[in-house]
Amino acid sequence: MGHKIVAGNWKMNLTLNEGLALVNDLLAHQTAIPSGVEMILCTPFIHMASVHGATQGAIALGAQDCSAHASGAYTGEVSASMVASTGAQYVIIGHSERRQYHHEDDATLLAKMQQALSQGLHVIFCVGEPESIREHGEQAAIDYVQKQLEVLCELPPEQHAALTVAYEPIWAIGTGKTASPQQASTMCLNISRFCTEHLNLPKEGIAVLYGGSCNAKNAKELFAQPGIAGGLIGGASLKADDFLAIANSF
Ligand code: PGA
Repeated sequence: MGHKIVAGNWKMNLTLNEGLALVNDLLAHQTAIPSGVEMILCTPFIHMASVHGATQGAIALGAQDCSAHASGAYTGEVSASMVASTGAQYVIIGHSERRQYHHEDDATLLAKMQQALSQGLHVIFCVGEPESIREHGEQAAIDYVQKQLEVLCELPPEQHAALTVAYEPIWAIGTGKTASPQQASTMCLNISRFCTEHLNLPKEGIAVLYGGSCNAKNAKELFAQPGIAGGLIGGASLKADDFLAIANSF
């Protein structure tokens, strides 16, 4: 089995005590997770240092975003160096909720990725088409996602190995409507192919995750598909039993 990833995206959920209770539940059962499966918790910024203190690195830590700026007068922003200083190794960039609610465009996403990579963080870059594009068929969705991937080519080649891509069709996020295993696999394989052709990757290529209503019931079938190296999990990452079941689905 190659390197597999199950990343939880808590979004704006869980107080500190709730988050630490979840982490303790995960730690209690973590030994059951197959070797070769990396579990990552992408928590709210304000919980990161506490979560790292609780796990002592036994579960990888990530942020859900970072600033496009290095430091300075940007009230309310959190820099990539601050993220890294909590012990985190990962940061999600380009989640559809950031693109939609915060109008993050390619230039912003590029600046954020440059900040993250310069701090040694590994980027989980999110892409995915809206329903209005998917309605025009698979090729339209592939073209849309390919366009979103082009920004990755602007990054310095020596940093490409620190990229992971998450395919999250917007119509599947938080809707209970999962992409079919075939739809997910076709897109993830296309993403892999694009990245292999355009980026400077190690020979094992890039890890492509699926996200969007992935849960304990459907994870096994999704993760068994060619091209899918794991999942980016929202709702189902908030319950220890569900998230552990997903991590055990490979
Ligand atoms: P969901 O969210 O699993 O709740 O659909 C996935 C995500 O947005 O990362």
